[in-house]
Amino acid sequence: MYKFSVLLVLLCATCNLALAITDGLLPNGNFEYGPKASEINGTLVKSSKAIPNWEISGYVEYIKSGSKQGDMLLVVPEGAYAVRLGNEASIKQRIKVIRGKFYSITFSAARTCAQEEKLNVSVSRGKSKPSDWEILPIQTMYSSNGWDSYSRGFLADDSQVDILIHNPGMEEDPACGPLIDSIALKLLYPPRRTGKNLLKNGNFEEGPYVLPNTSWGVLIPPHIQDAHSPLPGWKIESLKAVKYVDSAHFSVPEGKRGIELVAGKESAITQEVFTTPGRFYDLSFSVGDAKNYCEGSLVVEAFAGRQTLKVPYESKGAGGFKRANLRFRAVSKRTRVMFYSTYYTMTSDHSGALCGPVVDDCKLTSVRRKPGHS
Ligand SMILES: *[C@@H]1O[C@H](CO)[C@@H](O)[C@H](O)[C@H]1NC(C)=O
Ligand SMILES: *[C@@H]1O[C@H](CO)[C@@H](O)[C@H](O)[C@H]1NC(C)=O
Ligand SMILES: *[C@@H]1O[C@H](CO)[C@@H](O)[C@H](O)[C@H]1NC(C)=O
Repeated sequence: MYKFSVLLVLLCATCNLALAITDGLLPNGNFEYGPKASEINGTLVKSSKAIPNWEISGYVEYIKSGSKQGDMLLVVPEGAYAVRLGNEASIKQRIKVIRGKFYSITFSAARTCAQEEKLNVSVSRGKSKPSDWEILPIQTMYSSNGWDSYSRGFLADDSQVDILIHNPGMEEDPACGPLIDSIALKLLYPPRRTGKNLLKNGNFEEGPYVLPNTSWGVLIPPHIQDAHSPLPGWKIESLKAVKYVDSAHFSVPEGKRGIELVAGKESAITQEVFTTPGRFYDLSFSVGDAKNYCEGSLVVEAFAGRQTLKVPYESKGAGGFKRANLRFRAVSKRTRVMFYSTYYTMTSDHSGALCGPVVDDCKLTSVRRKPGHS
């Protein structure tokens, strides 16, 4: 009897793990399964359970790629369908997760009419606990085709959570409001410091899910608390987002992922490390371009202790990188390492898309012997 119950518990633990999503689209996360003809009027979805796997509320439209809104042709990044959230409209899905683990949500959104669109992306665990929400501004367009992918992180403190995307907007035209597609999840493994690198996740390999069929990277928005960062180890401590770029669609100095600093001094990444006051350290890193028509004289500024280093990089927009090193003497027990781009840059393809230098492969090491000069 005892053995039997142990076996059952084990089986249940594995079945739960098997059902939880670890990497990829949510069930019907790209809205390819739509409402029955009787549950839709034109594009307006008529009942809350009409879209399989989702629960909707408010003015939600089911949009087919290639349909028109005024003069604008609506194109959908993944498959043939997307949804549009009108004023105060939302979509929600309950998902199984592994309690105690960190996750990141990635989704794609496109603005339609208004300038100041935003989305409230919340994750609620148990009924009584307050939900964990974040407002993601989507007014700045980073890609050239209107679609951008956004990410945010969360800690799953229950085995089931509700993911809710809500448009808090109040536009005059109820058909205004962002288009949403491709909602995916990724289980994040908290990176550790190693003897070779005092920085965590210095090569940015651990981060939000990158939708394989999208070629515009994933934005990591600013002002997010450390525990919520979809980029483990790092904080986006500025006004604008940074862009997470993948080697399948961009040139990345090392591994499969890197960070493109897309908004000048308004998008910075930081990490705090423990240091020994008085000791010397080397902060080495790669600066390059993502092979996305980001041409010209790019400059990355690195900060550590009381030291600053400006790293110029002449970009032909064709990919490539160089290494740089900032030697500094720690002045306190904690040192903040920070990178930003000196300038705002736009791609040379006249699309108006923002771009910038790529930072990757950051290493912080203690200098064994004090150098003769400081
Ligand atoms: C569909 O929407 C139109 C316009 O709002 C309305 O006049 C019509 O009655 C609706 N049809 C159904 C079947 O609900
Ligand atoms: C965002 O959504 C959450 C959960 O629905 C809600 O509690 C919160 O008040 C919303 N925030 C704003 C600013 O709308
Ligand atoms: C990406 O696109 C290919 C070809 O269009 C399709 O077969 C595949 O399912 C798509 N991937 C995802 C994750 O939707």
